[in-house]
Amino acid sequence: MQAINHEVTERVTEEQIAFYRQNGFVQVDNVLTADELEEFREYMEESMSTSDGRSVKTGKDRGTYAKVLNQKVNSWRDHGGMAKFSFHARFAQMAMDLMGAQGVRLFHDHILWKMPGDSLPTPWHQDLVKWPMHETGALSLWLTADDVDESNGCMMFVPGSQRSGKLTNISLSDPVDIFEFVKDTEFAKQKPVCVPLKAGSCTFHDGLTFHYAHANTTDKPRRVLANIYMAEGTTYNGKGHLVTNGQELQEGEPIRGPLFPLLAGRALKKS
Ligand code: SIN
Ligand code: NI
Repeated sequence: MQAINHEVTERVTEEQIAFYRQNGFVQVDNVLTADELEEFREYMEESMSTSDGRSVKTGKDRGTYAKVLNQKVNSWRDHGGMAKFSFHARFAQMAMDLMGAQGVRLFHDHILWKMPGDSLPTPWHQDLVKWPMHETGALSLWLTADDVDESNGCMMFVPGSQRSGKLTNISLSDPVDIFEFVKDTEFAKQKPVCVPLKAGSCTFHDGLTFHYAHANTTDKPRRVLANIYMAEGTTYNGKGHLVTNGQELQEGEPIRGPLFPLLAGRALKKS
């Protein structure tokens, strides 16, 4: 494969931080070197082609959810190469700077592939309503291994919608209209912004920002890794979640432990 030469982006700029805080999302180009991008594609392919029942689902008889997304949570736990991208210090530093936190932990990663053939859009939703956290501020990095645009599943965001507060958990396979919850408010009037990206580039979005992804109308998978970062000290709200269930977390205590490594900045002292 022909390597593309570009300068890798090491840190977010003051302008990007200001844009993120105003709008609840930001685009950051070239966060992977050409070599890293090649490696990233290889590990994602390996991770998604295991025959453990979590591999990619294609074809008309797959369920509605699989037409929206093929998802693998915490890919780092069974593919060491993925850990390089889930724990990457460069991304964690960017997340920390955008949040203005003293430290950040990984909440979880998830590989998000949108497979071709009867593909469905990812409906408008907020993420934080699903995460068992008392505080707001956690965010997602959405890193693409493929060029993305409206034809294969690029994202859209509603600028400023992170200020709407927590609304409701929207099922990705049987969605309700999130805009019904903000009728007659400034959020309903905001024009969504579409963000096409080149492979190796990413967006960050706040856990409360309304977002959506187009269907994949091409004949190739749309291959993305999303990492969720939370500020050090973010506390557990006691609600059930795949990655916190069984972790012996007490309600009101900071989320920490073996599945939630500190990736940038400083850890708080244990009380
Ligand atoms: C997608 O990749 O299609 C959706 C990502 C998200 O909901 O954060
Ligand atoms: Ni989401």
